Amino acid sequence: MADLQSPIPLVEDLVKQAVISFKGKFGCEPTTAACAPGRVNLIGEHTDYNDGFVFPMALPLVTVIVGKKTESQQCRVLTLTEGVDDPNYVEFPVPSETSPLAPGTPKWANYVKGVVANYKGGSLPGFDCVIVSSVPVGGGVSSSAAIEVGTYTFLDQLTGSENGISKNEKALACQKAEHVFAGAPCGIMDQFISIMGETNHALLIDCRSLDCRLVPLKDPNVVILVTNSNVKHNIEASEYSTRRAQCENGAKVMGLTSLRDANEKQLEEHKSNLDDVTYRRARHVIGEIKRTEEAANALENNNYKLFGELMVQSHNSLRDDFEVSCTELDQLVEAAMEVEGVYGSRMTGGGFGGCTVTLLKRDAVPAALQHIKKRYSGTPTFYVCAASQAAHGLTL
Ligand code: GLA
Repeated sequence: MADLQSPIPLVEDLVKQAVISFKGKFGCEPTTAACAPGRVNLIGEHTDYNDGFVFPMALPLVTVIVGKKTESQQCRVLTLTEGVDDPNYVEFPVPSETSPLAPGTPKWANYVKGVVANYKGGSLPGFDCVIVSSVPVGGGVSSSAAIEVGTYTFLDQLTGSENGISKNEKALACQKAEHVFAGAPCGIMDQFISIMGETNHALLIDCRSLDCRLVPLKDPNVVILVTNSNVKHNIEASEYSTRRAQCENGAKVMGLTSLRDANEKQLEEHKSNLDDVTYRRARHVIGEIKRTEEAANALENNNYKLFGELMVQSHNSLRDDFEVSCTELDQLVEAAMEVEGVYGSRMTGGGFGGCTVTLLKRDAVPAALQHIKKRYSGTPTFYVCAASQAAHGLTL
């Protein structure tokens, strides 16, 4: 059933494609290139903006940027990425104190502009570049963080200096780009894992202290299956902001800075002060933070059975208490759980469409793909993924 899997393009092939387009568009050879991965979150959903734990890994699905410095004070950017809004080419000036950049249309360019505007590594030259990406747009696997971190890494390559800026600072600069230029009040998970991920490891991130712990994920008998529902319900952006506000309100009512400081006992004590929705939102976050730490320990001990159970608990809590799942994601999870050799499955990312993540035995993959495809009312896309490398510069 290998034919059911979507092939994951090699970075070299994406680079070749971008180089050909660069030459066609700008009439010369690019000199500089960088790439940054999307991510899948194994567990720890809607916990990052509550100062909690998340447990993502970097995907082999990446954004590649190739380009070259120019003598002009212009940034000229062409994207070949599928699924972005038109036009696929923009020009904007290198920002200065007197003429800062502002977000606008097309929307995809706001991620690039936002990073250019928040770049910490010194003054920027003008540049031409081409972007290409294998991270599905709107798939809940951080195509936006991949373009932000890809742009940041490309700019580091272009200026030839990282100016002692730490990885944390770079991730925060990319998050700011998303807040200010894309208007999405995201947490820190996506930019962090794109900058810090490691091959064959998942990363437990404490979103309060920003401490990270790498956990090996390289058992040849176990794989991560990412299944794209190929639906995206456009309520996601507004619902995300609403959830964030509900969590902040819940913490406030309980007299806390964030839900990270709450436990189940405190929640029950405050139940009468919280409306039902806020109570359930807080119950998800408090339970999910605990599950995420437990799951990282389970993975460290190769306890896939426990890890899988925690994934399913996470999904149920996101569906019932946090209410960010949808019929399509529920169907995919249910179908996956019916297959022998599947340890666990859950929705991943912000919700309301996008992908599920499933932990299963390698030899169960063919049966899982066939069964999920048969049971799902839509058309899924499957990616069998190994934990991959963080963003890095590429040699052309
Ligand atoms: C989106 C955000 C992340 C995180 C997840 C939910 O992907 O960008 O910061 O909040 O949703 O876990």
